[in-house]
Amino acid sequence: MTHDSLARTTALILAAGFGTRMKSQRSKVLHLICGKPLVYYPIKAALDAGCSDVVVVVGHGRAEVESYLAKAFGAKVRTALQEHQRGTGDAARAGLSAVKEAERLLVFYGDVPLLLADDVARVALALDANPKAALAVATCSLDDPSGYGRIVRNGAGSIVEIREQKDLRNDAERSIREINPGIYAASVPFFRESLASLEPNNAQGEFYLTDIISYAAKKSCQVVGVDSRAEVLVGVNDRRQLVSAEETMFLRIAEAWRLAGVTVRAGARIETGVTLGQDAVIEAGVHLRGETDVGKDAIVDVGCVLSNVRVGAQTVIKPYSVLTDSTVGQSAQIGPFSHVRPDCAIGDEAHIGNFVETKKTTIGRGSKANHLAYLGDGVIGAGANIGAGTIF
Ligand code: UD1
Ligand code: CA
Repeated sequence: MTHDSLARTTALILAAGFGTRMKSQRSKVLHLICGKPLVYYPIKAALDAGCSDVVVVVGHGRAEVESYLAKAFGAKVRTALQEHQRGTGDAARAGLSAVKEAERLLVFYGDVPLLLADDVARVALALDANPKAALAVATCSLDDPSGYGRIVRNGAGSIVEIREQKDLRNDAERSIREINPGIYAASVPFFRESLASLEPNNAQGEFYLTDIISYAAKKSCQVVGVDSRAEVLVGVNDRRQLVSAEETMFLRIAEAWRLAGVTVRAGARIETGVTLGQDAVIEAGVHLRGETDVGKDAIVDVGCVLSNVRVGAQTVIKPYSVLTDSTVGQSAQIGPFSHVRPDCAIGDEAHIGNFVETKKTTIGRGSKANHLAYLGDGVIGAGANIGAGTIF
């Protein structure tokens, strides 16, 4: 959902951290969820919400992250460098240097893949709705708040502080279930002032972005809390959370295609970049990856794995076939147990049967290779019949 009122809003997305808990050589935000890097999703949310500018703060694994961003988003996303990873507050400061004056700023983290446009837009819009407020922050309540910063309120119910897990002082604080999902909206001047005041006086010796809340409270500035949907605000810090967020996303993608008129059986896994035609049937255990497109009325039967494959309308891919970087025409039949390797173009009404492997091969309209063959670097015209045992 695009909001016109976010037209002068810059989204600042923090993605420079070490991601220590991933125990990985690679930047955390490049780990894949449903076929796209983690950081793709919060950026998409910012763009979908209608933010006029998106700045991603990069640092750890910078070269790789920047090259991904350029490839995936081009000029729509700018980057700012956080030289040393000294905490989220320091990252936000680094990001500010790339932000133009006199705009509103929405700051959130690059490790929250389930976030949607509406979740960020609502925080920015809460500022408009409360002219007296200096800062709006998302909040939500979790049965198990461990790992998250806790929202501390005063006797009057106002938000006065966010306290990190490692800095909790007593049982009262440990019993707080209201947590900080990590979406903040304020004017650029408020961010400049509050971020300039940060000190690394905490258990981790870091500059905490969350300390802008106590800064606001000390200046008697009003902070609005924006109730947010707990299930979408999951931060990914380790691989357990990576996989658990991915499971949620696979379910979400499958539900969306079902509502759009595609039969997606339970247990099929459809990645983010995939498109499906009406009345297509995707059976259990199928994995559709990358930029795969399945045409109308096509069937992809149990256990098939398709990566970057275009499948024409009414084609049937029978069980346990593996197809990669290729195209299949309309009303064709592939499988069971076929292996279509990169750069094949299988024509309309063609048949590729069991234990047939093809690579860099064009197969003309209506041609058949029904069993046990290897067809590599070849061109087969229309109407041909390739017998069992053929190798070329
Ligand atoms: C943070 C919040 C916590 C909140 C949680 C929500 C702080 C201090 N804590 O904790 O209150 O509940 O997110 O998910 O903000 N980053 C940088 N540079 C750095 C450090 C981090 O860019 O120096 C980036 C990371 O790449 C990451 C994001 O900031 O995308 C959050 O950092 P992370 O270390 O995951 O913070 P949490 O401990 O999850
Ligand atoms: Ca995190």
